[in-house]
Amino acid sequence: MILIKLGGSAVTDKSRPLTARPEAIERLAREIASVPGKKIIIHGGGSFGHFRAKEYGLHMGFSGGAQREGICQVQADMRQLNGFVEGALRRAGMPVASIPAGAIAMFDGGKLTSFPSEVFAHYLEIGITPISFGDVVVDRSRCISICSGDDIMLRLAKDLKPEKGIFVASVDGIFPGFPPVEGQRPLPEVRRGDAVSFAGKDTDVTGSMRRKLELMLGMAENGCPVQILNGLVPGRLADALKGMDVIGTKVIA
Ligand code: IPE
Repeated sequence: MILIKLGGSAVTDKSRPLTARPEAIERLAREIASVPGKKIIIHGGGSFGHFRAKEYGLHMGFSGGAQREGICQVQADMRQLNGFVEGALRRAGMPVASIPAGAIAMFDGGKLTSFPSEVFAHYLEIGITPISFGDVVVDRSRCISICSGDDIMLRLAKDLKPEKGIFVASVDGIFPGFPPVEGQRPLPEVRRGDAVSFAGKDTDVTGSMRRKLELMLGMAENGCPVQILNGLVPGRLADALKGMDVIGTKVIA
């Protein structure tokens, strides 16, 4: 089984609120469907998640009042984006089951504590591809938290021991410096402690690229090889799913 995270920057335009990238979603769905094998697909929030979650301060804990509307709104926005991804996968011929994190995950103090990975395993067993996504979730001590698609990736990697994890981004991989020099190739491999720098502006409610890398290292350290590639380049995801060498960065334990 291969775990795929379609990053928010690949499936949405992160600079414009609530703006999907329909062509990229349809093409990525066809690429995923074109390569046989079991997969679990997770997607991020991009401009359907981060803008409003930040506006309502949902990443800062729960203060009641208007935040209740914010929770419903962000969950509704994420389900709308999920509908696009789900629809594209079904049009590409894949039977899929959508499993929102907000319905099944439990956080405590901002950390994912309870998550029924066996539900995903069961769908896989009967030949249905489970899909999930970053979401607003309940938190035992903070009332609510934002669960990122990366939190789900790490948990599924620990519980289900996939063959590998692929992170589909809108850049070629991780670079030694940002912005990358024109024509520069990403680092072929990154290990804990390697010198890397990330794009400065941090508008995400689920943390910086550095946190995402930390979660990827966690996956690698749990025996799941991780690779980051550019999903806006046609064919790259399909080639990676076929096991071909593609431009991108491997995260090594
Ligand atoms: C964010 O999920 C979910 C919400 C803000 C509700 P991610 O953190 O996985 O999203 P991207 O991939 O960074 O956009």
